[in-house]
Amino acid sequence: MIADRMRLDGRTVVVSGAGGGGIGTTCARGLLEAGATVVGVDRDPERLNAVEADLADAVGAGGPAGTLVTLCADISTAEGVEAVVEAAVAAPGELYGLVNVVGGSLLPHWAPALDFARAQWEQSLDLNLHHVMFLSQGVARHLVARGSAGSIVTISSTGGVIAAPYHVGYGTAKAAVLGLTRTLAVEWGQYGIRVNAVAAGSITTPRASSTPQDPAFAGRGVPMRRRGTPADVAAAVLFLISDLAAYTTGAVIPVEGGALNRLGLFDEDNVPVHVTNPRILARIRGEEEAG
Ligand SMILES: NC(=O)c1ccc[n+]([C@@H]2O[C@H](COP(=O)([O-])OP(=O)(O)OC[C@H]3O[C@@H](n4cnc5c(N)ncnc54)[C@H](O)[C@@H]3O)[C@@H](O)[C@H]2O)c1
Repeated sequence: MIADRMRLDGRTVVVSGAGGGGIGTTCARGLLEAGATVVGVDRDPERLNAVEADLADAVGAGGPAGTLVTLCADISTAEGVEAVVEAAVAAPGELYGLVNVVGGSLLPHWAPALDFARAQWEQSLDLNLHHVMFLSQGVARHLVARGSAGSIVTISSTGGVIAAPYHVGYGTAKAAVLGLTRTLAVEWGQYGIRVNAVAAGSITTPRASSTPQDPAFAGRGVPMRRRGTPADVAAAVLFLISDLAAYTTGAVIPVEGGALNRLGLFDEDNVPVHVTNPRILARIRGEEEAG
């Protein structure tokens, strides 16, 4: 059955940044439901402690039981990467995949580019880019040495696809992971290792402390007029990581309620702001009969 391609029984998938209670934790949940062994990695021990309890009900929920292994490690260091790969190899199942979730931005990372400090720039790239390269490389080296196929998915952002004004470090790093995704996909296709990305829009997470229907946001700029949920992102990750996407590599799947599709030349009601002809505007508003 084509739907069986979603199953990950006997496969081990690393999720970096699994402890946040948001996108990483929910990706781990989806993978566990599909039967994977999940190695959930986070550098924050408190966040990681909460994960096992959070996900207890997901282990084996959709079929043969997956297993959750948690590991406290800092993946921005070579030792951290080594520890993750070692733990993933030692975990039950065969190492198969990686979901790069670690990333984000801190308050000081929002600033006009004219004022952006070097330290913030370096921090943005460190938090969002460097570990994606080296953790992906660590996992891929193991797969290639073993002669096994695999799948890597990285969480990027709409800010990596189009401009991210006043968020220059984050936007640049998220664009760079898309370039990295394409290059690794092309280099590693010969080994059967697929590399893809998700461009997430505005997603409700515990730290964003907002609801999908947040009135202060009111879905501005989003054709679907709501924020996304971590489950919206996890579903795309499950598709890309699994054999459902067996012939897809180097791809970027937007999970953004359609936000990337509307040019800034169209307002919230999809009225083209560059059109000034009153007859065209009247026809769009239904004030003049079509035909
Ligand atoms: N929330 C959104 O609206 C949104 C939108 C687009 C993209 N994203 C991306 O999704 C991803 C997850 O976002 P989130 O809001 O769930 O983040 P989060 O901050 O809740 O989770 C990230 C986790 O990564 C961990 N972490 C950070 N550095 C680490 C390191 N060096 N080693 C190990 N663990 C580390 C943190 O402790 C944290 O638990 C990020 O890459 C973010 O850029 C989020």
